Amino acid sequence: MNLLDPSLVHAATALKLRVVGREEVARDIVAFEFEAADYLPLPGFDAGAHIEIDCDGVARQYSLCGDPAAPMRYRIAVQCETNGRGGSRFMCERVQVGDTLDAFGPRNHFPMHAAQHTALLVSGGIGITPMLAMAWALHASDTRFEMHDFASAPERQAFVDEIARAPWRADVTRHLSRCHDFAPLLGGFEAGRHLYVCGPLAMIDAVLDTARALGWPDDHLHCERFAAPSPAASPTPAQADQPFEVELASTGQRVHVAQGQSVCAALAEVGVRVPMSCEQGVCGSCITRVLDGVPDHRDWILNADEQASGKVFTPCCSRSKTPLLVLDL
Ligand code: FES
Repeated sequence: MNLLDPSLVHAATALKLRVVGREEVARDIVAFEFEAADYLPLPGFDAGAHIEIDCDGVARQYSLCGDPAAPMRYRIAVQCETNGRGGSRFMCERVQVGDTLDAFGPRNHFPMHAAQHTALLVSGGIGITPMLAMAWALHASDTRFEMHDFASAPERQAFVDEIARAPWRADVTRHLSRCHDFAPLLGGFEAGRHLYVCGPLAMIDAVLDTARALGWPDDHLHCERFAAPSPAASPTPAQADQPFEVELASTGQRVHVAQGQSVCAALAEVGVRVPMSCEQGVCGSCITRVLDGVPDHRDWILNADEQASGKVFTPCCSRSKTPLLVLDL
């Protein structure tokens, strides 16, 4: 992630997308295709990028899973969850071909490393979506890669036909069982080999823990989470929360953030809206520049360097180590 890229901090292109395709690509997984409602070309995107869709008032992010070299259409896939927070039900139950949706993006919090000479892609379930775009990009750049996808049953394996037709199909291994030991699949670290993982939280953690145990350095490990780990895994326990103030640099207004209250919630009380989606520190929608003060990072999206820089933070869940944070708002 490049912190200097202004598109990562709130600003993103507003899009009107017309639904031109809808297909069930596995049990409880629906793929959608979009074109620009005004028939103009859609913005290009890099592998790993996502768009944010307004799902009837709630913003939800979906990875772009099409070929980045063919951005005339965007493609996403949605896991239909009856107990979800509303976004997937809206997409799966209400959105049909011909509908028009408001969206933002594309933005990329899961980019591929520019200097890799080989890549290992590991996905589970709906986590396959960013990996498809990565496979297309790696194939186009002649970069060696292996992709391993895990599904619990044949009917839950998504994009079977599409992968079977892809020119990179020989680089893909599809697994129909739970993996209890990722060590043989990962192998030892080799310089320039980068690992990308996306899927259920337990799988992501197992893959990353195994890779670290095998000597992979953190800067060669990349993951995208769809939800935050359990509170027990939080870097800072909730009871350590202290109240603090944030200052809006544009007006000088100071806002009190109470114990147990998020910065976003405190700002909303005074009419300042920060874009949000996950509210768990995993999506990056709310990333905000910090101009002064020291953030107390509670997110799972900024990498170690980005957190250490203290120049950005996620106000949906992160707090402050100093009595005052000055925000670029
Ligand atoms: S809303 Fe997703 S990281 Fe803050």
